[in-house]
Amino acid sequence: LAPKDLEGRKVLITLGPTREQWDAVRFWSNPSSGTMGACMAMAAYLRGADVTVVAGPTALTFPCDMGVVPVRSARQMYEACTDLWPDMDMGCLTAAVADYRPVPFGETKFKKNTSAGSGITVEFETNPDILKTLGQSKREGQKLMGFAAETGNLREEAARKLETKNLDLIAANDISRAGSGFGVATNEMFVLDSKGRKEQWPQLPKTEVAWRLWDHLLL
Ligand code: C5P
Repeated sequence: LAPKDLEGRKVLITLGPTREQWDAVRFWSNPSSGTMGACMAMAAYLRGADVTVVAGPTALTFPCDMGVVPVRSARQMYEACTDLWPDMDMGCLTAAVADYRPVPFGETKFKKNTSAGSGITVEFETNPDILKTLGQSKREGQKLMGFAAETGNLREEAARKLETKNLDLIAANDISRAGSGFGVATNEMFVLDSKGRKEQWPQLPKTEVAWRLWDHLLL
């Protein structure tokens, strides 16, 4: 039987990619499947939490008594999360949010220019940092967990993000390593918390990583 150590706690999870529309048919996104977030959500649910998932576009399904807010863009995810956060006890932001969005071409489909051999230039605007915004408005008693997918300087980047985003815990992984990150069922985590604890975990199933992260946050 799962311990009910999150009983009655309101937990916000973000997961999946965001999708930043450019024209009628094209968008900017990334290959996040939402698996790590789904594992965090299911672990919290099994431990008795009242879970709300803010989900970018994924193929995932959730228990019918779990709150799910489907969103597409980073700005929609930001709106949903900033509305929900004041009422939450814990936040766990796993979503692979697009840091930038293309300046929209418009409602119609962009037509290829067949006469010119040159390419096109698309401009990008900055999206809001959801995790940082929640960290800035974190009140006494709220706990916030973030993730960091890196291709180098893992420990330095994790420490910087823990600090600048005002987090209680950060779980960082090197996405250039096999078995760590996008589209795989395992992850290899470096975990750092605001109490100064540092742990390097071996490659583990994401289900196990999720279980351990809640253990760590509750300690
Ligand atoms: O700064 P970086 O994008 O590496 O931070 C990753 C963490 O911040 C993840 O937990 C991710 O879900 C969150 N994030 C966010 N909003 C953004 C960018 C990242 O919530 N715009």
